[in-house]
Amino acid sequence: MPRDISNIVILTGAGISAESGVATFRGPDGLWEGHRVEDVATPEAFAHDPDLVQAFYDARRAKLKTVEPNAAHRALAKLDAQWPGELLLVTQNVDDLHERAGSERLLHMHGELGSAWCLGCDARSPFDGLMAEGPACPVCRQPGQLRPDIVWFGEMPYEMERIERALARCDLFVSIGTSGAVYPAAGFVQTARYHGARTLEMNLNPSEGSFHFHESRMGRAGELVPGWVEDLLRENADERT
Ligand code: OAD
Repeated sequence: MPRDISNIVILTGAGISAESGVATFRGPDGLWEGHRVEDVATPEAFAHDPDLVQAFYDARRAKLKTVEPNAAHRALAKLDAQWPGELLLVTQNVDDLHERAGSERLLHMHGELGSAWCLGCDARSPFDGLMAEGPACPVCRQPGQLRPDIVWFGEMPYEMERIERALARCDLFVSIGTSGAVYPAAGFVQTARYHGARTLEMNLNPSEGSFHFHESRMGRAGELVPGWVEDLLRENADERT
């Protein structure tokens, strides 16, 4: 293993899926696919206009069928398969491109488009259809009770304890394609540094918390990430021989 690096935590955001054709959250116009984030990604928006919110996520879910993982997703899957130490890939993305590329040590802290949460019985189930049509929950059979299993603003991200434990143990924290605008993910770099990790950011342009990182590499994820993964795996192999 490269000297001093055994445990790795990687945080990804919308930027890693941009080259696959999935829109980032904060586009040049400040909108997400033409909507203000507050109008589609809050519990208040869902209470106020459930049809709009369901139609919005139905469209995002349908779009997933038209996109493919890119070189950055594939490189992280290769790292996952070959890295002998601990590794946790934490994604803020609700698409399924990391798993389709082959990543296994992965968690979705902001939920998944491919999951439904039943407000009737609280079950979460795989989902691949149109929620706006009010389908029945596969567990309790009640119709019209499903909502996207997405963490909206004001809701608690998933698996925070597991993430905090991994951050406290990691030797290297890497952030890829995230604007660093949304907490708690934006604070992971500080937690990792507090526990002694080296920190690296790869993004198209400096994120809001760029100054917290030991190193920042600017460019497209599809170009930066494969090279970084190859270097890390080569250094690891060199040190073992
Ligand atoms: P953003 O849209 O805020 O930021 C995406 C980042 O990726 C920006 O800093 C871009 O510069 C960068 N980027 C764009 N294309 C890239 C490329 N090809 N290679 C590398 N970087 C690129 O998305 P997130 O930071 O993921 O939360 O947003 C965080 C959270 O805010 C989301 O998970 C979502 C959103 O509202 C919830 O829904 C709770």
